[in-house]
Amino acid sequence: MKGLKDKVVIVTGGAGGIGSATCRRLAEEGAKVAIFDMNIVAAEQLAQDINQQNGQALAVRCDITDRNVVEQAVQQVEAELGPIDGLVNNAGWDIFKPFVKTNPQEWDKLIQINLVGMLNMHFAVLKGMVERNSGSIVNIASDAARVGSSGEAVYAACKGGLLSFSKTLAREHSRHNIKINVICPGPTDTALLAGVTEGASNPEKLREAFTRAIPLGRLGQPEDLASSIAFFLSEDASFITGQVLSVSGGLTMSG
Ligand SMILES: NC(=O)c1ccc[n+]([C@@H]2O[C@H](COP(=O)([O-])OP(=O)(O)OC[C@H]3O[C@@H](n4cnc5c(N)ncnc54)[C@H](O)[C@@H]3O)[C@@H](O)[C@H]2O)c1
Repeated sequence: MKGLKDKVVIVTGGAGGIGSATCRRLAEEGAKVAIFDMNIVAAEQLAQDINQQNGQALAVRCDITDRNVVEQAVQQVEAELGPIDGLVNNAGWDIFKPFVKTNPQEWDKLIQINLVGMLNMHFAVLKGMVERNSGSIVNIASDAARVGSSGEAVYAACKGGLLSFSKTLAREHSRHNIKINVICPGPTDTALLAGVTEGASNPEKLREAFTRAIPLGRLGQPEDLASSIAFFLSEDASFITGQVLSVSGGLTMSG
């Protein structure tokens, strides 16, 4: 892909399933990757792996729900890697229950991680991108935001918010040459999906049901997402902004 070499890219939730595949792919393309995660042990392990394979990665402990922590973490990246060219808002969390069985503490946690966290990240990173008149942001939503998903009402509300927030910001910042796009994974084989299925009365049956619903006949793999994320960040996508792409084996065929 064009134009990723030496670009500084932050990936939130970078130590998780989709996040770690994305960090590896970006490093392969020559980018300098800042791995933002609360799980600093996993983030440091990943950074070490990438650096040993001649990539460039920096692990940063960051809880995206804490605005002060986010501001400091972004400053650390600028000091150690340079001005930020790209941001992937990927950190997320989900629980799988009918809405009437959830409680307000669960809503708060879902909203903090899936909605407030990405607001904090945009706020910290966009100022520099505006000054430099350049940047690319990829936000990871979910097909649940586009077509709904039983058992994920508050999560889907947050991801729907992320989707409309992204389109609005794409309009506000197109004059600054900042591209903002959204990728919607479907069921993808990660710890997050395992957490969702383990909460069900019959986890294997739920996994099979997810797989059956996907026209291409398999769950997504983190690498399936990583390639699309890298594309949106690259110069190959320099004329694309405000768009939403489902990477979900045809689960959502949305116009
Ligand atoms: N896996 C799926 O089926 C699926 C489907 C649709 C959308 N998504 C979305 O894809 C993204 C990545 O999910 P995944 O499946 O790789 O999940 P994952 O659980 O494998 O990884 C999530 C990562 O986010 C980190 N994280 C959680 N809260 C954080 C916080 N407050 N601050 C910093 N880091 C935090 C975790 O430590 C973890 O490393 C999420 O936004 C998720 O909602 C996943």
